[in-house]
Amino acid sequence: MTGSDHRHILGCRVLIVIGGGAAAYKSLDLIRRLRERGAAVRVVLTKAAQEFITPLLAGAIAGGHAYADLFDARTEFDVGHIRLARDTDIVVAAPATADLMARMAGGHADDLAATVLLATQAPVLIAPAMNPHMWINATTRRNLAQLVADGVAVVGPNEGEMAEAGEAGLGRVAEPLEIVAAVERILAGREKLPGGDPLAGRRVLVTAGPTHEPIDPVRYIANRSSGKQGYAIAAAARAAGADVILISGPVELDDPPGMSVTHVESAREMLHAVETALPADIAIFAAAVADWRVAHEGEQKLKKTAAGMPPLQLVENPDILATISKLQKLRPALVIGFAAETENLIENAKAKLARKGCDWIVANDVSPASGVMGGDRNTVHLLTRDGNGVHVDIKIESWPVMTKEEVAATLVARIASQAENRS
Ligand code: CTP
Repeated sequence: MTGSDHRHILGCRVLIVIGGGAAAYKSLDLIRRLRERGAAVRVVLTKAAQEFITPLLAGAIAGGHAYADLFDARTEFDVGHIRLARDTDIVVAAPATADLMARMAGGHADDLAATVLLATQAPVLIAPAMNPHMWINATTRRNLAQLVADGVAVVGPNEGEMAEAGEAGLGRVAEPLEIVAAVERILAGREKLPGGDPLAGRRVLVTAGPTHEPIDPVRYIANRSSGKQGYAIAAAARAAGADVILISGPVELDDPPGMSVTHVESAREMLHAVETALPADIAIFAAAVADWRVAHEGEQKLKKTAAGMPPLQLVENPDILATISKLQKLRPALVIGFAAETENLIENAKAKLARKGCDWIVANDVSPASGVMGGDRNTVHLLTRDGNGVHVDIKIESWPVMTKEEVAATLVARIASQAENRS
């Protein structure tokens, strides 16, 4: 994060709505971080939040009174719930529990928190936090899709240990500094700085790296993908102001800062992580997903036998790109695939574009002579498709040899100009 980013927060009014979950204590740090950057912070707590932290503590850290009750004479005398909703530059619901999200999606106004969220005209950012099973529940997915469609920005959740012992998965609240960064992006987007964050407020999902398909507890099928191109795209999208969710197979790279990173091993885990992360505005499938897996994974290490090699029966993996491209409801507006080919690059890429049902294909030559696999450079051709059905028009652009970072920046610039044309 650069120092200049803080100028968007300096002097801004941030209303934090704290939902009732174990992650509520992290919002105290969030308040502190925002105030350090010069924001004026007001706090509203739901009834459930007060089971975890007190209004007195939240108010003390925010440097004022924390509001909790819709019909509290003091609140109404002090500022009034409509002024709480109106006199703010952004509302941040953190942690946003499944219940708070459901009430927001349903337009409830049965407590102070829900009322200010409904009454505000300021941008709203939510930082969901809940048990992983609640996060993937169809009801929560529907509420999330509704909130995103209504223009609510989302940061996180992250993957990790839950407060409950033994529970792990996607559902941890985003870290305070990630939420601060998301606030900065939204406030910066609102100011529409020239050349600023062209993807501010857009949710971009990126897959990267290989997948590992287990044969037995110690062996797996893999490929040579390093994940560098996908990681570079995720970083470029983040630099352009997007909220990025990176879903990565096993790689030797550090997690890029400022985004949610989910690590998976197999193609099926990757598909599940992608489906869980939807909705998204833009999805870029840069992962080199294994086409096959072993039909029956050995529970124990496979042994050499007198009969010779143990037979390995392969079955086809789900096609993540095709699955997401063909979704009816949650299909991202722009779906981009990669075509890694060792021969007949353009013809194969054209066929792939049609077969997978995506909008763009980034085709690259991965023949051993190209040095692309594991290397730092890439020669790509961008195939874009306009129109549906019979009148499909495929355009091909060939880009010069570039570093993977340059390919990423060029692709993100193309996405940004497309996104601008559409909005
Ligand atoms: N892809 C995917 N899931 C799969 C296979 C591929 O999401 N199971 C995606 C890749 O991330 C990439 C695109 O599909 O964006 C094309 O991948 P590629 O390996 O080039 O194509 P395949 O589907 O494997 O086709 P083929 O075997 O004909 O090359």
